[in-house]
Amino acid sequence: MSHELMPLVVVLEMRHHYMKNYNYLVVDRGSLQAVIVDPAWEIEKIDQALADTQARLSGILLTHSHPDHIHLSKPLAERYGCPIWMSKVEIAASGFSARQLIGIDGSPWTLGQMQIEPIVTPGHTPGSTCYLIGENLFTGDVLFAEGCGICPDTQAAHAMFASLQHLKSRLEPDTRIFPGHSYGQPPGRRMSQLRRDNIYLHFSDKDKFAAAARAIVESKI
Ligand SMILES: [Fe+2]
Repeated sequence: MSHELMPLVVVLEMRHHYMKNYNYLVVDRGSLQAVIVDPAWEIEKIDQALADTQARLSGILLTHSHPDHIHLSKPLAERYGCPIWMSKVEIAASGFSARQLIGIDGSPWTLGQMQIEPIVTPGHTPGSTCYLIGENLFTGDVLFAEGCGICPDTQAAHAMFASLQHLKSRLEPDTRIFPGHSYGQPPGRRMSQLRRDNIYLHFSDKDKFAAAARAIVESKI
């Protein structure tokens, strides 16, 4: 794919009190259709990004059902008349509902010239989903540059271990990782950099991984 046709990723930093999330507007340069990932809190920044790129919002990708990731999904879907996508597993586990909601599995679909491939990666929540669009992976609270999302129990940590193993085998080294939050590193680092620097990608034993992941939870209680 030539550079002109690669999707444009607009990084939006959203704040609410002490919280900071990243939203991503992904624009198909050919059709100027766009999707937004996990919209929350500052709707005017999304409107401005749409105006700046001259794109129209064609859908909302939700990585999971936590409040800081779904916050603006319904108002945006109403305003722009577009669908909300979330994994069927996450919908069943959370009870999230919306008039425009479409449940998805791992089947990709296209929007303009962009292919959107959901990769279901449980662990942080039962149906957490990453979305691969071109060379960009949007990871929500599954994979951060510096770590991975909190796992509520050992079973969830084992699921997270399998999800991270799957991402390691599925992704190209050049894939850019766009997480829901940053703990120091800017969004858009390459998978090869994460594989080198993120210790949660170094484990080869699910129980040792779970012990490390559970230690994070206990240190925060
Ligand atoms: Fe979360």
